[in-house]
Amino acid sequence: MSDTLILAIESSCDETSAAVIKNGSEILSNIVASQVKSHMRFGGVVPEVASRHHVEQITQIIASALTEAEVEMADVDAISVTEGPGLVGSLLIGVSAAKAMAFAHNKPLIATNHIAGHIYANQLLGPLQFPLLTLVVSGGHTELIYMPEDGVFEIVGETRDDAAGEAYDKIGRVLGLPYPGGKVMDEMAHQGKDVFNFPRAMLHEDNYDFSFSGLKSSVINTIHNARQKGDDLDPYDVAASFQAAVVDVLVAKTLRAAKEKDVKQLLLAGGVAANKGLRTALSEAVAKELPGVELIIPPLSLCGDNAAMIGAAAYTQYKAKEFAALDLNARPGLLLEN
Ligand code: KG4
Ligand code: ZN
Repeated sequence: MSDTLILAIESSCDETSAAVIKNGSEILSNIVASQVKSHMRFGGVVPEVASRHHVEQITQIIASALTEAEVEMADVDAISVTEGPGLVGSLLIGVSAAKAMAFAHNKPLIATNHIAGHIYANQLLGPLQFPLLTLVVSGGHTELIYMPEDGVFEIVGETRDDAAGEAYDKIGRVLGLPYPGGKVMDEMAHQGKDVFNFPRAMLHEDNYDFSFSGLKSSVINTIHNARQKGDDLDPYDVAASFQAAVVDVLVAKTLRAAKEKDVKQLLLAGGVAANKGLRTALSEAVAKELPGVELIIPPLSLCGDNAAMIGAAAYTQYKAKEFAALDLNARPGLLLEN
């Protein structure tokens, strides 16, 4: 069989990205333009600002992805794009660009789910083996997803309120850290101690769901109370205590689900997969309790949003000839299960 080259486009939030992926597993190029500096002064992603940046960047990013891969459009077999979930204005820029390219070059178009992309980022490290379980932790999502086979997704658990990354970023803001606070909080956590013993929500409940809003409120109340009393509060200890609570719950529930589902592989995915505390705790727990399960953790470059992961996920759709029509629209609330 000859090689399949997919040109992939991702613009669901505040990263404009294009990539060329060979056979769903090899990165020929993966260009990511982050807008984080533009949103920092607002303390969060401003949708209108994000859309404007995507419009300005996308043509150049696609051209760079092709140049770096040393690929001409004639060599490309299909164009894939993130259809959702995400910010509607941001998604529309990628979808419009992908449709225009597919029409102009007469190539099949593939509409890919962003969360599927985060999962398939792991296929860029080695072959996926089913059944598998993925813990997806990002700014917008916290989900445990079971895959009995390639291209089939079952949500076994999800957050009932805030996503893990969202809780990091909101607490980071109260601590006065620049947006997004997740990465800095992670670094601070390693210089502090878990002295506050914040609540581990839903840890012992008989389900695989998560909840982070109670923890978030508890941390923020602790900070405000100390400030009102004029007490000295060590922000490093706050970060360490918060991180310990998040990691404890994520690891315990993920391991329990992996055991029950009897999976071959356990995957970590999403922006919060970059968290050092989580990576270490999950590695140690799997080595100790599930030595027969292969744990795959993406490198930092594949944890955050990028188009390479979209091209990896799209390969499964390409093989199934699951193509989209040229009236494809952005779907901000797109679900993973069909
Ligand atoms: O997957 P992603 O790039 O965008 C979404 O689809 O949401 O994830 C971004 C999230 C942000 O909330 C950011 O604070 C968080 O990932 N994040 C981290 C770390 N690095 C990024 N959270 C905790 N620890 C980190 N090291
Ligand atoms: Zn994402």
